[in-house]
Amino acid sequence: MSADARKTAEGLSYLSGFGNEHSSEAVPGALPEGRNSPQRAPLGLYAEQLSGSAFTEPRAHNRRSWLYRIRPSAQHPAFTRTGNGAIRTAPFTETVPDPNRLRWNPLPDPAPGTDFLAGLWTLGGNGDATQRAGMAVHLYHANASMERVFSDADGELLIVPERGGLLLRTEFGLLHVEPGHIALIPRGVRFRVELLDDSARGYVCENYGAPFQLPDLGPIGANGLANARDFKAPVAAYEETEGPVEVVNKFCGNLWTATYDHSPLDVVAWHGNHVPYIYDLRRFNVIGTISYDHPDPSIFTVLTSPSDTPGLAGVDFVVFAPRWLVGEDTFRPPYFHRNVMSEYMGLVEGAYDAKAEGFVPGGGSLHNMMSAHGPDRETFDRASAAELKPQKIDDGLAFMFETRWPVTLTPQAAGAEHLQRRYDDVWDGLERHFPPLR
Ligand SMILES: [Fe+2]
Repeated sequence: MSADARKTAEGLSYLSGFGNEHSSEAVPGALPEGRNSPQRAPLGLYAEQLSGSAFTEPRAHNRRSWLYRIRPSAQHPAFTRTGNGAIRTAPFTETVPDPNRLRWNPLPDPAPGTDFLAGLWTLGGNGDATQRAGMAVHLYHANASMERVFSDADGELLIVPERGGLLLRTEFGLLHVEPGHIALIPRGVRFRVELLDDSARGYVCENYGAPFQLPDLGPIGANGLANARDFKAPVAAYEETEGPVEVVNKFCGNLWTATYDHSPLDVVAWHGNHVPYIYDLRRFNVIGTISYDHPDPSIFTVLTSPSDTPGLAGVDFVVFAPRWLVGEDTFRPPYFHRNVMSEYMGLVEGAYDAKAEGFVPGGGSLHNMMSAHGPDRETFDRASAAELKPQKIDDGLAFMFETRWPVTLTPQAAGAEHLQRRYDDVWDGLERHFPPLR
């Protein structure tokens, strides 16, 4: 743990807004006026574009940023293969897709000296990273700050801390993310993760598909769910480090390493909309019923990665944030269901209203396409008999990565010691009540 890093993290300022054009300069005059690529960039900097979408994608989906840096990214030695650790990438073909309901306890403690990258452990996923489609579910458990720098060419990284604060030093500047917040690192953006506590644990959705965007609001109107202004981008900050710096690049499923003679986090100014963000999940403006029935959980969508089919997401990030339940004559917890979409759920803190026990912070559950699930017996009995007064749910923060394709497990997830072998039992004992006793 670094007291200096925590002090730095807590003193950071940010730029508000999601998906719009931001700009920032760490040194006055570093950002060129009126041109992206002037004949000579200010202050002897190099101009460089980083794109997150094809050049010709519609403006609403177009992502790119211009970086003004001490050295161009192109100046580096050859990358060579390095070990992938516990990171795996789609296509996931090492196990047969499993229709069973599955649940895991938290990851075991890592060996001393495990940084964020070494602590990444892939649970499974779908699609194909080389086709820029699908997603992976990772967990991480680290106890050391990264000294190396990482970037992921395969997709963007949605980081959901569950334990321990993180200081993310990115090409665009610094971000401070704590449990209850998320961070979003766009495809290809270089960053280093420093721990602000003795250890750090959490979840990562690696999205190979279209970049996450805010969902359309339809009849909800102009406000609500995650408000754009609550997303925070960093202000420019750069490193002038000279000397060896290891840079690891994830490319088509493999990790590649090169030793630079300088830090690649040397961007002095930037502008654009392909930028990292943080977001406080407790800022989510929860919309729900004020009459009856339990809305589908799509109402809790924070970010969505759209596919070519309108309304059908490659992956949605959904949060079950503190909220009031007021539905009359309504079974208020999540109903029993079988969905065409596949759901990986995690828990940041507290409890989740559909399960009495066993779903714990740092653990997770997977309910693949058409698997039958819902409240356990205790929850069903309690909610069926409850007196329906207005009730505040404020003792937990759960989330879901919901994806259009089934999640296929890695062998390490399918055979993990922390896989709960008797998860099916939570639905045991749901009694037959028909015909009702007279
Ligand atoms: Fe579900």
